[in-house]
Amino acid sequence: MPVKTLFYRNHTLYVLDQLQLPQRKKYIACRDWQQVAQVIKKMNIRGAPAIGLAAAFGIALAAETQEARDKRRFLDQIRKAAGELKATRPTATNLIWALRQMLDHLAKIKDQDINSIKVLLEKKAQQIWHEDVLINKKLAVHGEKLIHRKDRILTHCNTGALATAGYGTALGVVREAHKRGKQVSVLVDETRPYLQGARLTAWELKEENIPFHLISDNMAGHFISRGEVDCIITGADCVTANGDTANKIGTYILAVLAKENKIPFYIAAPLSTIDTHIKTGSDITIEERPADEITMIAGIRIAPEGIKVKNPAFDITPHKYITAIITEKGIVKKPYLKNLKKLK
Ligand code: MRU
Repeated sequence: MPVKTLFYRNHTLYVLDQLQLPQRKKYIACRDWQQVAQVIKKMNIRGAPAIGLAAAFGIALAAETQEARDKRRFLDQIRKAAGELKATRPTATNLIWALRQMLDHLAKIKDQDINSIKVLLEKKAQQIWHEDVLINKKLAVHGEKLIHRKDRILTHCNTGALATAGYGTALGVVREAHKRGKQVSVLVDETRPYLQGARLTAWELKEENIPFHLISDNMAGHFISRGEVDCIITGADCVTANGDTANKIGTYILAVLAKENKIPFYIAAPLSTIDTHIKTGSDITIEERPADEITMIAGIRIAPEGIKVKNPAFDITPHKYITAIITEKGIVKKPYLKNLKKLK
């Protein structure tokens, strides 16, 4: 049974603290939207779909925790919370998507009394959360068809249950192939600087008894060039109209390596990650993270103090390197401009 990344009960959002994994499995209780914004920003919860779900519950809390009796003020405060939640992780399309779902719903129910609005916003967030697992499972069933018996799959970052409401996207495809008896194995990139691969993906695969080896990021080329990788699957934080994709920093190198070594490079992403209003990868905002994610590991300084650091959280993989995009509605191939539009 995959782990519960987040759940909402008695007007509280419980978020599994991914900063403490794999050592401790502890939940953080968020009782207002400001706390939700904090856990997203600090990456206690991360992964584009999971961030979106947390933000949706953040909107439910923005309504729930208000004392305001004046309707206009009540609605304004919710919209303000949405604006601040949106700014927490600027690359994650699912965050914008989930907030849009909540605000569109609010627009439909705004004439009801304040208490009804509170109930209906919580219901909407719960619905988005439930649907996320179903979407992941559908996506995994489509993606699994691309996987051959005994495939050795390389993945980057964490795209599992921890990055979603459950099951996962790229890791969901692996999970599904394993469940159907294909003897797959995984090469897990550790994913510097935040180590989502080493801390989170390795933990999930171990829990599920799916065979894997952990490697450091700079080993990927070595294994790919030796013919020890059959395909690469990663998730995405944003897929644009032409198929260009933002994903965890280090993804672009893998896509180039895949092309050079003639192995397929797949992106697994739900439709909520695809924004056809964004034309190309160069239009995506890339989040810059704090310097200490590079200069420190687990609280220990590994670089001199006072140095300059660059820490972009994501890079862009041009669509030409992407063999296919796996979604809950099926597998999309080139030309992405035409085929992604048809899907949305
Ligand atoms: O910075 P993170 O850990 O939020 O980045 C996560 C990724 O890049 C994932 O690959 C992406 O969000 C897809 S998760 C299903």
